Amino acid sequence: MKLLMAVEVVARRQVTPRVVQLTLRPAKRAAFPAFRGGAHTILVLPDGKRRLYSLTSDPDRPELWQVAVLREAAGQGGSAWLHEAAAIGTRLLASHPQQGFALAPEAARHILLAGGIGITPFLSMLPELRRAGADYEVHFCARSEAEAPFLPELRAALGDRLRVWIAQRLDLARLLACPAPGTHAYCCGPARMVQGFAEATAHWPAGTTHVEHFAGIPRAEAQQGEAFEVEIASSGAILPVPADRSLLEVLRAAGHGVDAACEYGACGSCVVQVEGGEPLHRDVCLSPAARRRSMTACVSRGRGRLRLAL
Ligand code: FES
Repeated sequence: MKLLMAVEVVARRQVTPRVVQLTLRPAKRAAFPAFRGGAHTILVLPDGKRRLYSLTSDPDRPELWQVAVLREAAGQGGSAWLHEAAAIGTRLLASHPQQGFALAPEAARHILLAGGIGITPFLSMLPELRRAGADYEVHFCARSEAEAPFLPELRAALGDRLRVWIAQRLDLARLLACPAPGTHAYCCGPARMVQGFAEATAHWPAGTTHVEHFAGIPRAEAQQGEAFEVEIASSGAILPVPADRSLLEVLRAAGHGVDAACEYGACGSCVVQVEGGEPLHRDVCLSPAARRRSMTACVSRGRGRLRLAL
């Protein structure tokens, strides 16, 4: 986990029936550390739960951060607590910004594709695009207007740069069929949309497509798979990982303090270094290069025995 800061909730706004926006200020410093549009922070709740949220505020306003929290019906209570108990004056811990998703500075044109709460990482990119006088368009998909967070503000700010797809399918293959030179495309949305984006841009030049995942594999699935073993390099201990438990659970039960935030393979905060063996990667965040020497403990598994640098 990157450095943590004390933050205080100074405002809250119900954006849709299931999305609340929290405005945070630093509790012990004058300003937040700098970030670029698309960054996220990890909030640490009073019971220790860690939840990852995109920063939705303008990066040029370091005196405040904003996040938008979707209440997850099938979640583990983190988003429900933020909806019900995070009042004005509530103090939390927040990580320094983490930048897995950002605008490509070399792009001549940007196509932003959001589904539902997947609009959030783009909200901090839009001020950057406006200030840069960039050429861009935004496609926003949602099941209904009531479930499309920030839609009135987006309509007012973006005008005809915004295309809204309510309860109708955005034809990604058609929209993304012919990549113009210098165009970059970005997607954040549900797994089905991200998959459709990957298929529709498979022929795009390398490095011109960008994805932010806010959902990896479901928690129940994450804890299942083939049984395997890990060897702890520092002690030589062998730990069995049964088919119905995650590596993260097994390591923590054995006293290894491994960080974790999303617990669905999207944030990279639970990464452990691998010295030997064959990991079975199930995350959506590590690059091919990173996968050669590390794995996410929350969702990835192994074949036979792995040796971990712990
Ligand atoms: S906790 Fe986020 S990838 Fe494992």
